[in-house]
Amino acid sequence: MLQIIDNYDLSGSNTFRMKASCRRFISYDIIQDLASIRPADLTGPVFHIGAGSNILLTGDYPGTVLFSRIKYYDILGDNGDEMLVEVGAGATFDEFCSWAASKHLWGAENLSGIPGQTGAAAVQNIGAYGAEVKDIVVRLQCFNLETRRLEAIPLEKCAYAYRDSAFKHEPFKGKMIITGVLFRLSRSKGPNLSYKGLARAFTQASPKSPMEVREAVLGIRGAKLPDPSVIGSAGSFFKNPVVSPEDFCRISGAEGEVPHFDLPDGSVKIPAAWLIDRCGLKGASVGGAQVWESQPLVIVNRSGSASSSDVLALESLIINTVNERFNIILHPEVEHLGPGAEVKP
Ligand code: EPU
Repeated sequence: MLQIIDNYDLSGSNTFRMKASCRRFISYDIIQDLASIRPADLTGPVFHIGAGSNILLTGDYPGTVLFSRIKYYDILGDNGDEMLVEVGAGATFDEFCSWAASKHLWGAENLSGIPGQTGAAAVQNIGAYGAEVKDIVVRLQCFNLETRRLEAIPLEKCAYAYRDSAFKHEPFKGKMIITGVLFRLSRSKGPNLSYKGLARAFTQASPKSPMEVREAVLGIRGAKLPDPSVIGSAGSFFKNPVVSPEDFCRISGAEGEVPHFDLPDGSVKIPAAWLIDRCGLKGASVGGAQVWESQPLVIVNRSGSASSSDVLALESLIINTVNERFNIILHPEVEHLGPGAEVKP
């Protein structure tokens, strides 16, 4: 069913628990509902929200927010080893991870516990513990709001990169609505323990099932990251910066050992958590917003009543402090939505 509500309160639709509303909220259950939205229904700019677990609402949104309740699992192929399964964009991504692990299908287990919907996971190219969603995506089913047609977008056209995809940019942004994601899972692939923190959980015996890996991942996440059902946050607030080899030498020359990942093109990724930690910002707060102690990449709504100005001020403080000390500019991973959304160092 298509539901259109004006002046909709988004406070319960974002895991940061920011208080804000949008001019119009349109939710839909099936593709036919989406196709029945008339251009005149879309007042102002259009934003497609998911579980709201990667956004910072900086004020009331002056346009239309779309929300999908399309939920299905369709097995489109199974050759005894690989299974192709298409999942509705509105289905909870972690429920899919749990389903895959319970069926002994490898591929999604390292991504366990990440909040959000399946369509949003494909837009954001979510990643954790040495895996990214792009590694298992085959094709996206989309509804083009402009041409009003269904389109299949193959992996090659998604322009996937670190927390980035074609869906975050023109011409797809605000126009191409993902309705389903086709994943490839495997019965034989075995575990991906490339991430040191995860490999450490299996030093005694290597995992025999995706469920064992899922449980280890959920344990590591639970120890470091705030549970969004208990304390408001939007997960990693910043992206891990990628620097040139020269910049990396400059920083390690001054700081000693610096944790890092060497990228294939010679550049170096440094954990933003380490940069923030080194600046002594763990636990730093502005109003009700605070840098999370056990993973300083996360900003939390500590008081439960933090305002977006508190979060934006803390964001500026972190960007400026890291920039002054390391000459590196951190960029937010969390999408800012609403007035005053741009934070400049
Ligand atoms: N670190 C510190 N101090 C701390 C915590 C971490 O210095 O208090 C340093 C350590 O060197 C540690 C490194 O930061 O080894 C990396 O920390 P972690 O393994 O937690 O990973 P991350 O790079 O900070 C990324 C993702 C997370 C994902 C983890 C695990 C981004 C922006 N974030 O964080 O994703 O769960 O790896 O794979 O890439 C998210 O996107 O919301 C998210 C939580």
